[in-house]
Amino acid sequence: MPQYFGQLHTKEPAWSILGAVQSIKQDDRHILFKCGIPCVKISILAPNLIRVRMTPTGEFLPRRSWAVAQADEEWSKVPFEVREKAETIEITTEQMSIVVSRDPFRIQCFDSAGELFAEDADIGMGWRTGTIAGWKRIETDEHFYGFGEPTGLLDQRSKVRTNWTTDAIDFGILTDSMYQAIPFFIALRPGLGYGLFFNTTFWSRFDLGAQQPGVWRMETQGSELDYYIIYGPEPAKIIQTYTQLTGRMPLPPRWALGYHQCRWSYESQDIVQKVAQEFRQRQIPCDVIHLDIDYMNGYRVFTWSPKRFANPQELIQNLKENGFKVATIVEPGVKYDPEADYKVFDEGFKNDYFVRKTNGQLFHGYVWPDKAVFPDYLRKEVRDWWGGLLKSLTDIGIAGIWNDMNEPTLDDRPFGDPGRKIDFPLNTAQGSGDEKTNHAETHNVYGLMMAQASYEAVVKSRPTERTFFLTRSGFAGIQRWSAVWTGDNQSLWEHLEMSIPMLCNLGLSGIAFVGSDIGGFAGNATPELFTRWMQLGMLYPFMRGHSALTTAQHEPWAFGDRVEKICREYIQLRYRLLPYIYTLFWEAATTGAPILRPLLYHFPNDPQTFSLADQVMLGSSLLAAPICRPGVQYRAVYLPEGHWYDWWSGEAFTGPTHILAHAPLEQMPLYVRAGSIIPMIPVMQYVDERPIDQIRLRIWKGVGEFTLYEDDGHTFEYKTAAFCTTTYRVNSQEQRTIVKIEPREGEFSPPKREIIVELVGVGEQSFIDDGTAHQLEFST
Ligand code: GLC
Repeated sequence: MPQYFGQLHTKEPAWSILGAVQSIKQDDRHILFKCGIPCVKISILAPNLIRVRMTPTGEFLPRRSWAVAQADEEWSKVPFEVREKAETIEITTEQMSIVVSRDPFRIQCFDSAGELFAEDADIGMGWRTGTIAGWKRIETDEHFYGFGEPTGLLDQRSKVRTNWTTDAIDFGILTDSMYQAIPFFIALRPGLGYGLFFNTTFWSRFDLGAQQPGVWRMETQGSELDYYIIYGPEPAKIIQTYTQLTGRMPLPPRWALGYHQCRWSYESQDIVQKVAQEFRQRQIPCDVIHLDIDYMNGYRVFTWSPKRFANPQELIQNLKENGFKVATIVEPGVKYDPEADYKVFDEGFKNDYFVRKTNGQLFHGYVWPDKAVFPDYLRKEVRDWWGGLLKSLTDIGIAGIWNDMNEPTLDDRPFGDPGRKIDFPLNTAQGSGDEKTNHAETHNVYGLMMAQASYEAVVKSRPTERTFFLTRSGFAGIQRWSAVWTGDNQSLWEHLEMSIPMLCNLGLSGIAFVGSDIGGFAGNATPELFTRWMQLGMLYPFMRGHSALTTAQHEPWAFGDRVEKICREYIQLRYRLLPYIYTLFWEAATTGAPILRPLLYHFPNDPQTFSLADQVMLGSSLLAAPICRPGVQYRAVYLPEGHWYDWWSGEAFTGPTHILAHAPLEQMPLYVRAGSIIPMIPVMQYVDERPIDQIRLRIWKGVGEFTLYEDDGHTFEYKTAAFCTTTYRVNSQEQRTIVKIEPREGEFSPPKREIIVELVGVGEQSFIDDGTAHQLEFST
């Protein structure tokens, strides 16, 4: 039933609320407020981070930390003061103060300048059978971002966002629950912003003013209200703290930044090899080929079709010789196969690793292999077992693990019959020991735990090489284990356009390594749509073309010469930008910063950027204004404050301004900020084709700096200091531009290379890079 029919004519029962504060108790981190039986605990974790917990029963339950990477005790203690006043209790840190009113209990948060940034509204916090909720005010000029991968617009104000991982097949702008459930958002108004992480894995929901304008509400079916408030004021700071709390992505192998080619299904090893050859013959760079479900024998996970993929090892080796890596899809649904000699089912069954119903029977549903059972990844021993199974893939050279259908997705009858999607019964037991609970609490983390199982096991069994991980479902913290793609989109212009806000919101949710299926998964792209998608896809942190079984071919050459030529050029541009993009990955790994960013990330004081969802930034230097409509050759582009240059023509602009960009099919409007320094390399057919013997620093007049990050790109040695950084600065004054290259820092030595310093539109100079300082001057 569509969301807008949901609550018609239902009368909601009343909420119970907190009584007045009767006593307070404090230690060096927490302040406990007793309000009759119910209690509230505020914990000060950092000068800009507090945790608020409320329990109606007066008992705080031990909380599990599937999402949180840094538990309360792990934050270094920070000073704060508590002042008790007649009407209020005030808690002050270096960056914020929290004012608690005694009766009724309400929380207000102020920044150090006394500006109110988050304030309880309505009844503040309340509970009724099965639900617990909190309310806060929405300011007139406030906007809401994050929430994982919401569809529709960038700003989620006035929307309802439900956190319940779902196979969102056929999603559209009105879809609510998605594959990812990330109960985190950023509230932003000019100059002021805060983040809110709702720490519950149970079904939960944000109402961002849909029911009551001016008030947002969070509710969960868990038994405690538990949330973190992160003061910014700017999004970058909020995400930095949020990813300190829920973790950051590890650096992926550098080849994973190249182009990935996928299709459901390249159905035999000959076809896969043919696809790979086409890339090389046509000189279209590509690094990874994904194998979808057809590589398996009867869709049995961890098997290979003896007919169509008779010798996977040989296939992987042949592809390797041509510079390709292979990623395989992995499914959680294990074929229920007691009769056959299927090791995965037999072992899982014998050791009781599959989820069982409360009556003790195996729980089953229907997925690709027909009747299937599901491992309980909440249990450590099951994760270890799964890890051992993955070894069968990585041992033969599989370099990427693509976890799919892990919301988990299952039907109540065989696939293909008009079935119904079902969840595990909510009372199904999952986990073991202290962690034992039921599916109501673990549904949202099924994909997260599958991803964690994969990451931990593979990193252990392949300790010297980085592996690429991809998942469709996840929960807060998924960035620690995996890249994410936005599931089954469609070959529609609307989906091309919507990929921008979806990926930007994922980035604002702490998940930086993200992408959407280029060309659209379901349906047939027109040549024009495919071209425009490849142009935008060049900016996706995870750049993969993918299409469904019954669709027309969607490889870059499938649409004729003109499209192929444009695709080649944009994929080449991606490869030339590799040092810049890899540095953005390093930034994401060390600070949590998104790679693909909405303009508001860099211009949070400019309300013009708050709803801007059809332009996007790759890092802080590049701004793209993709074409997302058919037949369009001109479009309006907003350039925020500062000086900008057209990437293609070099034309200069001064923002804030709106311009009309010319965008023939060959061209996606692309701009670069004045003072940008973008390192580029010669085109390669795959990322590690040869050592980088030349870097072209493209520099646009202005004042700016860029720190380039480098390491070997494929081992974990960067973790023990085998990396280096080089800072470049540009300073243009009147008729002179000075470019300074600081000495290289760090223990990694890149191969000897030529550095060409190109001051765009002026000229170029070069030198051989030996890691020492240089200074170059250009007369302009
Ligand atoms: C799911 C995935 C899709 C994949 C298909 C077949 O729909 O989202 O990417 O191709 O299953 O495995």
